Amino acid sequence: MDWQDATCYLNGEWQPLASAKISVLDRGFIFGDGVYEVIPVDTVEPGLRAPFRAREHFARLERSLAAVRIDNPLTMDDWLGLLAALIERHPWPRQTVYLQVTRGAAKRDHAFPQGVAPTVFAVSSPWPPIPPENLERGVACVTHADERWLHCDVKSISLLGNVLMKQHAVDHGAFETILFRDGLLTEASSANVFVVHRGTIVVPAKSNLILPGITYDAVLDIARARGIEVEVRPVDESEVRTADELWLSSSGREVLPVTRLDGEPIGDGAPGPLFRRMHAWFQQAKREDALRWKSLLPALRLAA
Ligand SMILES: Cc1ncc(COP(=O)(O)O)c(C=O)c1O
Repeated sequence: MDWQDATCYLNGEWQPLASAKISVLDRGFIFGDGVYEVIPVDTVEPGLRAPFRAREHFARLERSLAAVRIDNPLTMDDWLGLLAALIERHPWPRQTVYLQVTRGAAKRDHAFPQGVAPTVFAVSSPWPPIPPENLERGVACVTHADERWLHCDVKSISLLGNVLMKQHAVDHGAFETILFRDGLLTEASSANVFVVHRGTIVVPAKSNLILPGITYDAVLDIARARGIEVEVRPVDESEVRTADELWLSSSGREVLPVTRLDGEPIGDGAPGPLFRRMHAWFQQAKREDALRWKSLLPALRLAA
């Protein structure tokens, strides 16, 4: 099945993605007034396609909705049932599930409309394998001042600041743009950033200045469980440039080594030893999480 042939969920109904439609007055379209989630799904054992940390994604969606004062249209169980149905309706062994909730369609006016139902949209698409060369050689990044707003912890669909920063990377032949605010590391345009110094992982704390990544949490949980030193504190730009290792993390990229920054090598210019261990541990964590999903599945009511 091609990605265009997917079936999507729109306001309680299943529809072909190619013909699904929303109002031009939808506040997502008019104002970027909505929030979203992206959930990776992988086959970690034959016949078992499982999302990674599904509950955590829906807990973050709940926080994003609360932050922008949109009532959560579904319960946790309904969201999990919708996710299970989306996976089941599509044949791909690896999927990316995208969910979006906007404040709904109403006459254009900045203030919240009264009595308007949110628009709920969900779709799955094939998730291509992580290119092996990205893991073996690492990726190149560039840097830029973080000029985004001060609520980067909300997973808002208003992504123009992030879009411009991703294009900045593309324009410079790079994979990602790593952002600094007042000389301190925040994150990348669509990923969190980890620094490794002498075997210690150093990361900025969660705050209003970064997205609290589900993968960020997973990497820190894994590191702590495996006895790796972790320092959660402000990270100076100079520490990023002189890191032994630099990593990106996101649902779609998992953990990736950055081996060049603004044209200069990071460490010895090759993926580091801690990255290699973390990558293997991360695959193990996915298998463990998939078993939790498997045990949850029989109790889920799939969205009909
Ligand atoms: C700005 C930003 N930071 C961090 C992340 C990583 O978050 P997660 O690990 O939940 O995918 C993303 C994901 O798309 C992002 O857009």
